[in-house]
Amino acid sequence: MTYDDAIKALSNDALKFVKDNYIIGLGSGRAATELVKSLSKLIKLKNYSIQGVPTSLQIKLIAEKGGIPLVEADQVEHIDVVFDGADQIDSQKFVIKGGGGALLRENILFSLAKKVVVMADKTKFVKNFTRTVPVEVHPLARSSVTNSIKKMGGKTQIRTLDKGYSFFTENGNIILDCDFGTIKDPKSLSQKIKQTAGVLESGIFLRKPDIIYRAKDNGKFDII
Ligand code: A5P
Repeated sequence: MTYDDAIKALSNDALKFVKDNYIIGLGSGRAATELVKSLSKLIKLKNYSIQGVPTSLQIKLIAEKGGIPLVEADQVEHIDVVFDGADQIDSQKFVIKGGGGALLRENILFSLAKKVVVMADKTKFVKNFTRTVPVEVHPLARSSVTNSIKKMGGKTQIRTLDKGYSFFTENGNIILDCDFGTIKDPKSLSQKIKQTAGVLESGIFLRKPDIIYRAKDNGKFDII
């Protein structure tokens, strides 16, 4: 049994938060993919009338394949429940997101959501954040944001694809992966990052999840 088995099992369990006529936010990545596959089986089985709101082309394609009707975030006033993965979760239940570059749309959905369900494997749970913080930046603000992050004590690295080409988000922006070492005060750091001109989104989300699933390497999971 592996983390993948646990993610599959918890994706089925998380369907208990879904009701007929719900508008559902679909996060991006591995955990969100498993959830969307389970969701598509559920709506066929129960003939539910669900609308999904995708956070990326990656998850949109999976949802389309599963026959989930889709709308965009600007067509809804609220989202009943968002299901998403995370890159790291600290002991205060803040999350770092953006490993796949979908952080801007993911945070819009978090802000619209009545309930946020986050699913992650055990390796991502830490006391204090230690991984880099993805920051979505307008390309013309690359140097100015780099300097501002340096003043906050961070080291930046522009995200690139395998052959060295720059990575662009679906919104046409770049990602600076910012190393701040151990982050003791994620709230104030995220606020400072977001106040910087040219920053579209910080990977430290200030809306905490309502439910957190933790996948274990024995194929089991718990809810925090
Ligand atoms: C997308 O930008 C990210 O926020 C993902 O949700 C995050 O990287 C978690 O992905 P996995 O479930 O694939 O680990």
